[in-house]
Amino acid sequence: MAALPLTDSLSKAHNVTIKRTTDRWRQHKNKPTAYELEVINKYKKQLALNEALKPAIHTVEQQSIFYAPIITQGLCLKCHGEKEAILDYLSIQEKYPNDLAVGYKPGDLRGIWSIAFEK
Ligand code: HEC
Repeated sequence: MAALPLTDSLSKAHNVTIKRTTDRWRQHKNKPTAYELEVINKYKKQLALNEALKPAIHTVEQQSIFYAPIITQGLCLKCHGEKEAILDYLSIQEKYPNDLAVGYKPGDLRGIWSIAFEK
């Protein structure tokens, strides 16, 4: 999924910050905070144990933050699968020279939604 144009306008309107983040980002501004990385690692552990991944709301300082897992599906591999199998990887690499978001398989944890509401 390329960036949702909605996310920017929604965040401005309601004091909500909508973010997709991951431990292997393509776009640098999607890099996780330390706390988000903990949430990601917890989901990865649960996935490895075949546990169900559930969305959750955490209260962190002045914010309520909604987290939900993003699981890789077959169609995501077109742009996040093995580099060699990506049709036009060169143009992705040109735009994101430090791309880490490749090598995924269906069912992998691709990342999380992190939606923060100011209290
Ligand atoms: C047509 C190419 C394409 C496809 C298909 C695609 N992505 Fe992406 N994805 C991108 C690009 C480019 C970015 C970096 C720009 C951005 O943030 O949208 C990205 C970024 C992301 C991010 C934000 C974290 C990061 O790495 O920067 C997530 C999460 C993500 N994709 C998940 C998915 C999932 C899940 C699917 C399948 C349902 C998917 N993508 C399919 C091209 C794609």
